[in-house]
Amino acid sequence: MHFDILTLFPAMFRGPFEESILKRAQESGRLSIALHNIRDYAADKHHITDDAPYGGGGGMVMKPEPIFAAVESVLAGEEDVPVILLSPQGRLFTQAVAVELSHHPRLLLICGRYEGVDERVRRYLATDEISIGDYVLTGGELAAMVIVDAVTRLLPGVLGDPGAPYQDSHAAGLLEGPHYTRPAVFRDHAVPDILLSGNHAAVARWRREQALLRTWERRPDLLAQADLTPQDRAFLAQLLVKNARSD
Ligand code: ADE
Repeated sequence: MHFDILTLFPAMFRGPFEESILKRAQESGRLSIALHNIRDYAADKHHITDDAPYGGGGGMVMKPEPIFAAVESVLAGEEDVPVILLSPQGRLFTQAVAVELSHHPRLLLICGRYEGVDERVRRYLATDEISIGDYVLTGGELAAMVIVDAVTRLLPGVLGDPGAPYQDSHAAGLLEGPHYTRPAVFRDHAVPDILLSGNHAAVARWRREQALLRTWERRPDLLAQADLTPQDRAFLAQLLVKNARSD
């Protein structure tokens, strides 16, 4: 997977892309990232990338010319590369969107800054617009890092355990249940007996029920979309009955 990231602040990416799993993914050739400074594509002598908004008002708007020039130069005529504008107005980034993006061999991300980006970038250059949540960041850079991270860990061979991305919270539309490691008793708090039982089928069922329970408690909105078996539905029905009795 190759990412092209267009930004006014390429130095912001140094730490996150040079540690741990993202670092190893680049070393193994599964991930490559090219950072492009939008300022380098501003044709004027002062490399100006922003200007006052037409119609007045506060704040500055990112000019269209440097962004168009950067995208056209970086893609050099290559078609079918999604050109994604990061903005709080985009479609919401979810695990399903991460999976969708992971199927592309190359993605281009445009990080907006200031008060906004000239509307012509959104309308005539970007093919997609993504928001990482309903809050406003100072720019798209942190959003780009989130997307690179969430997409990269889905690429084959990036995580040690190939099944890991399928067991994650959100992978099957549910939150994951609790995890424990040694010691079996820590400050009087014991690990649930079932995890020490060696009964793999019982452990698998318990894990599924814990995932259902946690999702029901914390994110019941997810249950409507989740992939549930008849056994899962029976477990949830039982929770509802218990809950009604305790009310
Ligand atoms: N830029 C500013 N806020 C953002 C958000 N929530 N998601 C993506 N890009 C942004």
